[in-house]
Amino acid sequence: MKRQTLLITGATGFIGQHLVKKLQTPALQKKYKILCLTRKPIDAPFVLGSLEDQRTLLHATRNVDCVVHLASVTQSSHKHLNYVTNVVGTHHLLEACRENNVKRFIYGGTVNADLARRGIYGESKRLAETLVKESGLDYLILKFNMVYGIGDNNLSKTFRLVKKLPFVPVIGSGCGKMQPVFVDDVVDVILASLQKKKLPHRVYNIAGPSIFTFNEYIDMILDHLHIRRMKLHLPSFLFRILVHLTGRTFEKTITLEIVNSIGQDKHVDISATKRDLDFEPREFKKTLTLLRDRHPFP
Ligand SMILES: NC(=O)c1ccc[n+]([C@@H]2O[C@H](COP(=O)([O-])OP(=O)(O)OC[C@H]3O[C@@H](n4cnc5c(N)ncnc54)[C@H](OP(=O)(O)O)[C@@H]3O)[C@@H](O)[C@H]2O)c1
Repeated sequence: MKRQTLLITGATGFIGQHLVKKLQTPALQKKYKILCLTRKPIDAPFVLGSLEDQRTLLHATRNVDCVVHLASVTQSSHKHLNYVTNVVGTHHLLEACRENNVKRFIYGGTVNADLARRGIYGESKRLAETLVKESGLDYLILKFNMVYGIGDNNLSKTFRLVKKLPFVPVIGSGCGKMQPVFVDDVVDVILASLQKKKLPHRVYNIAGPSIFTFNEYIDMILDHLHIRRMKLHLPSFLFRILVHLTGRTFEKTITLEIVNSIGQDKHVDISATKRDLDFEPREFKKTLTLLRDRHPFP
């Protein structure tokens, strides 16, 4: 059987790195030939370029069967940068795919795009989703909830904070619902979506099996670490003022997006994903043990 050629964007990112590593295992190398669009050299077949670079996109999408589009600005509150990369960049990539008759386009979306207060990032991802839907390509949108695992920028941050401070600062009541998903499960569902051609839906929610509040999330982490800490609930307006006063100085740690998103319910229905993509996400608590055994968070 002919190998499928995949173009992966965002291969140097958190999810992209896990996906590329899995695709480089011998069994999957027999099925897929990969090419990554990256802004720096990596240890996998790559073409140097960015989403702004239309000529490179045209070249990179030539003879490609499927594009997995994970590249995105994810940690910046810079409005123009979010727009140029997430919206305009996706537009350029879709154009290149159309030009080269790419058969399939898989888009790494986010639940943040559907929040009432979605902020700059969520809004840009929502606009990009619309472009994908209107592209005329055979597309699939995978809407990720918070993804965690080795090399992430959310759970590992919470681990560090909880270990360092004598209390745990919580934005607001901590009652917002969340449904984090393990990165290995995200990689598996991307692989499943590469294999399944005829799907009844074009948009699937990708989230963990359990819904819990931010407070419960902190409790599970404290239990796991066998430490006790008081939670210090601080009103979200204080964090908003802090973000406002400090501008983009601490955007790797806290942005307006994070402040707003913690207060909002982010749980979703994953029944269609389970049924159509054989999605069997692992329990948060179980993966914490797995992560500790594989690679303890710093
Ligand atoms: N992680 C999560 O919890 C989560 C949740 C919901 C949705 N998502 C979505 O899933 C996708 C992957 O997320 P992630 O956590 O892996 O993101 P990430 O770690 O922030 O990585 C972003 C990737 O995009 C690349 N990139 C950024 N701007 C680019 C540009 N102009 N041209 C080409 N590449 C560019 C980065 O390349 P450089 O290394 O060169 O900067 C990097 O490879 C994103 O679309 C994100 O919106 C993630």
